[in-house]
Amino acid sequence: MAQILVTGGAGYLGSVATSMVLDAGHHVRVLDDLSTGHLDALDERAEFLEGSLDDPRALDEAVRDVDAVIHFAGKSLVAESVTHPDLYHRTNVDGTRQLLEAMNSHGVTRCVFSSSAATYGEPEHLPLREDSPTRPTSPYGQTKLLVDQMLAEAASRGLSAISLRYFNVAGALETSRGWLGERHHPETHLIPNVLSAEVDQPLTLFGTDWDTPDGTCVRDYVHVVDLIDAHLRALDALENSRHLVINLGSGRGYSNREVITSAEAVLGRPVPVIETTRRPGDPAVLVASIDRAREVLGWTPQRDLTRMISDAYAARLTREF
Ligand code: UFG
Repeated sequence: MAQILVTGGAGYLGSVATSMVLDAGHHVRVLDDLSTGHLDALDERAEFLEGSLDDPRALDEAVRDVDAVIHFAGKSLVAESVTHPDLYHRTNVDGTRQLLEAMNSHGVTRCVFSSSAATYGEPEHLPLREDSPTRPTSPYGQTKLLVDQMLAEAASRGLSAISLRYFNVAGALETSRGWLGERHHPETHLIPNVLSAEVDQPLTLFGTDWDTPDGTCVRDYVHVVDLIDAHLRALDALENSRHLVINLGSGRGYSNREVITSAEAVLGRPVPVIETTRRPGDPAVLVASIDRAREVLGWTPQRDLTRMISDAYAARLTREF
């Protein structure tokens, strides 16, 4: 049993991680400033500290006596990062630097970090491997890459870290208290928007003229429960004074139209759609190579796209969290 600090533990991924880490038998302390997280998503078994990454006192309290940190806290909207790049640098980069300083002064040397496929930018070759070129096309991707580099540098001074680069995360976790799912405001992600589309509020489908089999973008989806399972495995796979980057996806792509068709099967009705122009900054195709996750973590995703959509839908229907 270990004491784990989960930063951003009231957010979508952080709240699922908090529940799953507790279920694995560890103690969890959550640090969250509730700027985008939800207090009611927090597992009551966790110890909660309200505070942000720019508050040295909160950080000092948060890292005290912990064995490892799973670091989710940060800003995560690509479009917002284009309009507010300073906010992204301050929160994601400066905030993580302060977290690492606090960890260092308390002798905490183990960290699993929430990185992103946005670090790669427009792919040269597919699938994307961890050694593919990193040319982020948004400030969001740049900040995630800067943190990956910061962790690599800190590893030379004794940190053991893994950056998990997420592709498109979807789905929800069912707990004894209800479902933990995605609740972003505004919601920009495809699957929640497909599920909330109505005749008078259709889904906006961005771009049908891409150089892909059906003209819509292709993405690699991973279920949030599989994703967090990989974090538990990453905690065990941390190596002394080493930094590793590991992609988390499924290794196969689905077009936006395929996602809509799968959702229609789950919903049992058509999804109203308005086709429009491409969304700025969208790469045509993003698919992960997950060989390293298989080799290093012994991890293979178990839940398919239909399961992601039906779990996201179940969470949406209950709206308990
Ligand atoms: N899309 C629509 N309509 C919508 C929402 C999305 O057509 O209402 C399309 C997008 O244009 C894109 C695809 O659905 O073609 C997927 O878009 P998402 O916003 O769901 O996801 P992204 O691939 O843009 O973003 C994800 C993560 C980011 C990460 C990025 C890496 O959410 O955090 O992958 O490129 F940075």
